[in-house]
Amino acid sequence: MQNNKDIIIELNKELSSLTDLTSIDQLEVKYLGRKGLINKLLQKIKDVPVNKKKAYGQKINQLKNEVKRIIKIKKLELTNNKTDEFFDATLPGKPYPRGSLHLITSTVEKISKTFQRIGFIRMSYPEVEWEYFSFDSLNMPPDHPARDDFETLFIDVPPAPKLGKMILSPHTSSGQVREMWRCGRPPIRMVSIAKCYRPNWDTTHTPMFHQFESLCIDKNITITNLKASINYFVKEYFGEDYQARLRPFHFQFTEPSFEVDITCSICKGKGTIGHQKCKVCKSGWLELAGAGMVHHNVLIEGKINPEIYNGWAFAFGLERLIMIKIGLNNMRLLYDGDIRFLEQF
Ligand code: PHE
Repeated sequence: MQNNKDIIIELNKELSSLTDLTSIDQLEVKYLGRKGLINKLLQKIKDVPVNKKKAYGQKINQLKNEVKRIIKIKKLELTNNKTDEFFDATLPGKPYPRGSLHLITSTVEKISKTFQRIGFIRMSYPEVEWEYFSFDSLNMPPDHPARDDFETLFIDVPPAPKLGKMILSPHTSSGQVREMWRCGRPPIRMVSIAKCYRPNWDTTHTPMFHQFESLCIDKNITITNLKASINYFVKEYFGEDYQARLRPFHFQFTEPSFEVDITCSICKGKGTIGHQKCKVCKSGWLELAGAGMVHHNVLIEGKINPEIYNGWAFAFGLERLIMIKIGLNNMRLLYDGDIRFLEQF
């Protein structure tokens, strides 16, 4: 009898020249059909000596399975590359999802551009900072309780003389005296947009957040300039219908100091919705930023003569700006990395 191996070689040879399913079907009949090769071999079992019948049967069965497998593969190959099928090269391709800038990144860019337009230069200062620049230079001596308002994360390194301990900067105001030193002589018009760190974690706080700070120092700078600059930004960012107001407050590094409120986007500044108080603002205004005229002592620390120059500074929380603009009540969504949220912007 012909060896299994030779039969398989023969089958492969015959298959290799076939390109259509009908001829493969014919070949299948030749091997596996009722009167096919395999069946003929099986019929010959009657001539095989009894003690060899079992081995003979097994051998034919192996051959049958192998032939079935090879033919099946060839058929699959043919149906998968139907070369004669019409291919429309003009059909549009599969659209792939497009990435986009993160809401924080696009807001940072928008703010930079808004301030560049009125002549402010974007600057950045160390994120890992000395206590001196975050507090002492800003009129907050070592034991001043106002430091508690800026709950601070400390770095575990030995303190340096005059500079104090190393910290993660809790506000962008750390750049004020650095900028005065860098610039040497006013005018100063800077905007700094940076990461800040305070150990808080709830729906309106994350331990890392962003602030953007603006500092303007020149001759004859007044509160009117401060208010106009804040109003300019608010209208650029939120729209013409929005107003800012200054409310007296206290910061160690500005005098006078203010908190900045803007028109509530929910009740449009009315403080009521129908006959009910607006649940978001209760008053028509939302608190948004800290601001003030740069303190005399800070100018002196910055080596700027307060008899000739004065200035203003303000800082907004970036995440809070975004939350008010898009009506978000959970700040952590900005950092969860959930694509269902992020792809909306
Ligand atoms: N640094 C202050 C804060 O983080 C905000 C501020 C900046 C206030 C500039 C006055 C002037 O709360």
